[in-house]
Amino acid sequence: MLNKKVEDILNRQIERESYSSNLYLSMAVWAETNGLEGTSQWLYAQAEEERIHMLKFIKYVNERGGKSVITAIEQPPADFGNVKEVFAQVLEHEQFITGSINEIVGVCLDEKDFTTQNWIQWFVTEQIEEEASVNAINDKIKLLGEQNMYLFDRDIMAMRSQGAAE
Ligand code: FEO
Repeated sequence: MLNKKVEDILNRQIERESYSSNLYLSMAVWAETNGLEGTSQWLYAQAEEERIHMLKFIKYVNERGGKSVITAIEQPPADFGNVKEVFAQVLEHEQFITGSINEIVGVCLDEKDFTTQNWIQWFVTEQIEEEASVNAINDKIKLLGEQNMYLFDRDIMAMRSQGAAE
């Protein structure tokens, strides 16, 4: 049976993963309507991953005798200026999510819920990977500069399909 504090912070994370999915969906729409097909594909796929994360939390809370709460989600921004700005915001958001996952680890330790603390390690590892992949994209953007966004967009399409094949 889940401790109330653990259940509450897991429910907070359900909302955050759902917001992450909508945020990336909104970015994908922005990219697609600005002719950035590769970028939009990457973001649509990322939005799907966030939905899977949300579902993992939902299933876990329910399986452990808690009850997942599905809330209204704050509307994400719709305009992002340029690709550099999009990925700067993706990184910032992932860093926020990493902090959020670390807080869950902290609550699990405080409440001596070692089962959830063990379960959440998957997300600890996932956040390392998510930040690394966004950092790699930001490094690429720095190298290319604004004038070569077409090349960047082609590149990121290839990155996603390589990732999908792994
Ligand atoms: Fe669900 Fe991108 O962290």
